[in-house]
Amino acid sequence: MQGERSVLPVGAAPQADSSTVKDHDGAAFSARLAGLPTGRLGQGLAVLVDALDGLVRELQLTPAEFRQVLDYLTEVGHAADARRQEWVLLADTLGLSMLVEDLNSPRPAGCTPNTVAGPFYRADAPLRDNGGSISLDGKGVPLQVRGRVLSLDGMALPGASVEVWQADGQGKYENQEPDLQPENNLRGRLRTDGQGRFAFRSVMPGGYDLPSDGPVGRLMTRLGLCLARPAHIHFRVSAEGHERLTTHIFDRADPAIGRDAIFGVKPELLADFRAAPLDGGVTGRALDLDLVLCPLRQG
Ligand code: BEZ
Ligand code: FE
Repeated sequence: MQGERSVLPVGAAPQADSSTVKDHDGAAFSARLAGLPTGRLGQGLAVLVDALDGLVRELQLTPAEFRQVLDYLTEVGHAADARRQEWVLLADTLGLSMLVEDLNSPRPAGCTPNTVAGPFYRADAPLRDNGGSISLDGKGVPLQVRGRVLSLDGMALPGASVEVWQADGQGKYENQEPDLQPENNLRGRLRTDGQGRFAFRSVMPGGYDLPSDGPVGRLMTRLGLCLARPAHIHFRVSAEGHERLTTHIFDRADPAIGRDAIFGVKPELLADFRAAPLDGGVTGRALDLDLVLCPLRQG
């Protein structure tokens, strides 16, 4: 063809091989990789192509539909930047992030399950006094949290680091609205006391919706799926000789408890944020919880 560069030596006949002579099938890509030192990358791509091949065949995807898929993925890419990770949000809402968590951190029964940390975690949260407040603006329904960090055998873990972060009563994290909330509002790091106990004063977190203004939100809305996350508090606990725990504790009474947009709710993570008289004569809420860590395992 004119203008097209030939890759064949002059006079050479094209060499047919198994991936060029017959209709494309799912194994053709794997066949090309056979014998190449592609390692886990090649293994992953072969499985992915095989699954996509099945999808195209099962749905008998038309070229127009295929183009729509590619356009959608392009949109997701354009919506992702350093402040907003639309790809992570897509993986979260498809249930893939929790699947990766579940597969990679199976814990023995009795340990608190691991979940994703989510986009609002900050590694630089300030150390707070055990028993002190993490609410810097005092806005919201007062909440008293008391917890224990335990090992699987029930032993208390003194000196454990407990990082906590949560949304305010309107369902917003401080790093989502830096002009409206004080820096590091509703987050902090505590150390457990000699009996493995920690406590802090806070406010009731509100449930919230994942952003609906990007391609992921639009997709979920178009499908009629819910973007809601039930009210929760995030914890990340580190203690010597134990696997780090990253989890959420959810308000059992939240109306969205059965339809978390990212599939993070597990029965062990439900808790009662019960009405209670608090110090100073105010009525607020109280939450008591145990966070149970898994001892480090070999391998
Ligand atoms: C969160 O709980 O903060 C969260 C987790 C995953 C996606 C969006 C938010
Ligand atoms: Fe959250």
